[in-house]
Amino acid sequence: CGIVGIIGNPDAKEILLKGLEKLEYRGYDSAGIALSNEAGVKVFKEKGRIADLRSIVDETVTAEIGIGHTRWATHGVPSRLNAHPHKSASNRFTIVHNGVIENYDLLKKEYLADVEMKSDTDTEVVIQLIEHFVESGKDVKAAFVQTLKMLKGSYAFALLDEQNKDVIYVAKNKSPLLVGLGEDFNVVASDAMAMLQVTDQYVELVDKEIVLVSKDKVVIETLDGEVISREAYTAELDASDIEKGTYPHYMLKEIDEQPLAIRKIIQQYRAEDGKLTIDPAIIDAVKAADRLYIIAAGTSYHAGLLGKQFIESLAKIPVEVHVASEFSYNMPLLSEKPLFIFITQSGETADSRAVLVQVKELGYPAITITNVPGSTLSREADYTLLLHAGPEIAVASTKAYTAQMAVLSILAEVTGRSKGYDSSFDLVHELGIIANAMEVVFEQKEELETIAREYLSTTRNAFFIGRGIDYYVGLEGALKLKEISYIQAEGFAGGELKHGTIALIEDGTPIIALATQESVNLSIRGNVKEVVARGANPCIISMKGLEMDGDRFIVPAVHELLTPLISVLPLQLISYYAALHRDCDVDKPRNLAKSVTVE
Ligand code: G6P
Repeated sequence: CGIVGIIGNPDAKEILLKGLEKLEYRGYDSAGIALSNEAGVKVFKEKGRIADLRSIVDETVTAEIGIGHTRWATHGVPSRLNAHPHKSASNRFTIVHNGVIENYDLLKKEYLADVEMKSDTDTEVVIQLIEHFVESGKDVKAAFVQTLKMLKGSYAFALLDEQNKDVIYVAKNKSPLLVGLGEDFNVVASDAMAMLQVTDQYVELVDKEIVLVSKDKVVIETLDGEVISREAYTAELDASDIEKGTYPHYMLKEIDEQPLAIRKIIQQYRAEDGKLTIDPAIIDAVKAADRLYIIAAGTSYHAGLLGKQFIESLAKIPVEVHVASEFSYNMPLLSEKPLFIFITQSGETADSRAVLVQVKELGYPAITITNVPGSTLSREADYTLLLHAGPEIAVASTKAYTAQMAVLSILAEVTGRSKGYDSSFDLVHELGIIANAMEVVFEQKEELETIAREYLSTTRNAFFIGRGIDYYVGLEGALKLKEISYIQAEGFAGGELKHGTIALIEDGTPIIALATQESVNLSIRGNVKEVVARGANPCIISMKGLEMDGDRFIVPAVHELLTPLISVLPLQLISYYAALHRDCDVDKPRNLAKSVTVE
């Protein structure tokens, strides 16, 4: 979910709606705003997108104060009733919330047995509790603090009091939240992108603080009343980075930005002598470890699987790769000197952050590889490596994935070189070749659109197979396809098919096979023959130099270790076109959110 708030600006309504549009990547199953003026606090909310919300907001209402929310449902189905903002029983208080309150049921039973709830949400319990404490004699701030102290779980809150139009009360724990500073107005937002339209000056908030945002001042206090002073920083985002421009979808724009991202990464990680370089403290930390643990979710996990290949082959340090949501309660036996690497595009994924918190408690060092400077995981790790890919808005990750692999390859190469391994491997040159090769793939978009139409426009399922490195790329190809086209897609190791999955092959089942590795070129083709013999419809994507008759798409030749940076491109584009052909909402697929800030 994402939240926004504004105080002291006559355009509050439009700024909130625009802000929510920028936060839709965090969830978009329902949305709402609350506008506060002389007449009271008026709530508009609706199931669906911000566009649906816009259509029901009363055009005549004006206000200088308001809060807003776009939701990714956790407690309670997506519906108008469960959409935020939520009001207290007397209607005096209005709140928006990003996060999950774990002990809401207990609190409800203990304090609110007599209150009739209007929704199924954990959030409503919070607002009723605040009102309960106000009714028992506390002032609003004290009631808010008391409530916050009782909550278990994650939250970013913005709270309005109908009886005090001079302040928005704000607090956070685990969920991200920033306060933005304007001239004679101030704003609140889950991230800077939402409010870049009105300011680039932001103040970071820390867990377990309460913040009183007025139009001309921002007062930050700990929950125990100690006043904190904190400087604002300038958000280095270009407003044009977060617009679609002439593209029909963010996803296509971001796919196309991949060569640029790779070139930017080379530029950012290159020293004056032309060699790649990384902060020596990071390289020392990596070298001091006897084993690296990569922790990530979704697409970032798939980048991690390839990061393991890069690091083990170039730096010769053993690497384990773990899904964040499993790791926290299923921690493997750790080595003596572990180092953790968190890969996260957003830097906000709650599953990954939960592991980071645990790792820090155990006293182990951690690096975050992220696209978002200043994000939670970046702030809380010892070191950060940035992706420099520019904001990624489409829910399905594309340029962040290739950027993650590029940065991981640089980490591997620089560490290896620093360990004295002779490297005739010129990574700057090889990444340059990748960026050019990406452009060659883009020249063949029409062919990829045809492939998508031919293989995927009506199918129920599809399989991606590969061996070695290609297998991991197949996992990402399958994830892309299922995320945005809803085709049931799975990636499999070519050799493993015969041990079960081959039973699923029927006449016409599309099989997308990757063949970019010389060492397994013949064996993966053997696997293709096995499925063809059982009726499958094969689409082989191979690399120049390894191609054979009948291959459907050939990517330019690049260094063998780095093939994922190029072989994933046709898979991204095939998924994109398949989703278009099937009339799916490419940038905002059903049930998903780009940044999942709940565990
Ligand atoms: C969500 C998104 C995925 C993403 C994953 C991890 O599930 O829908 O596209 O890969 O989170 O996100 P992160 O920001 O940590 O890389």
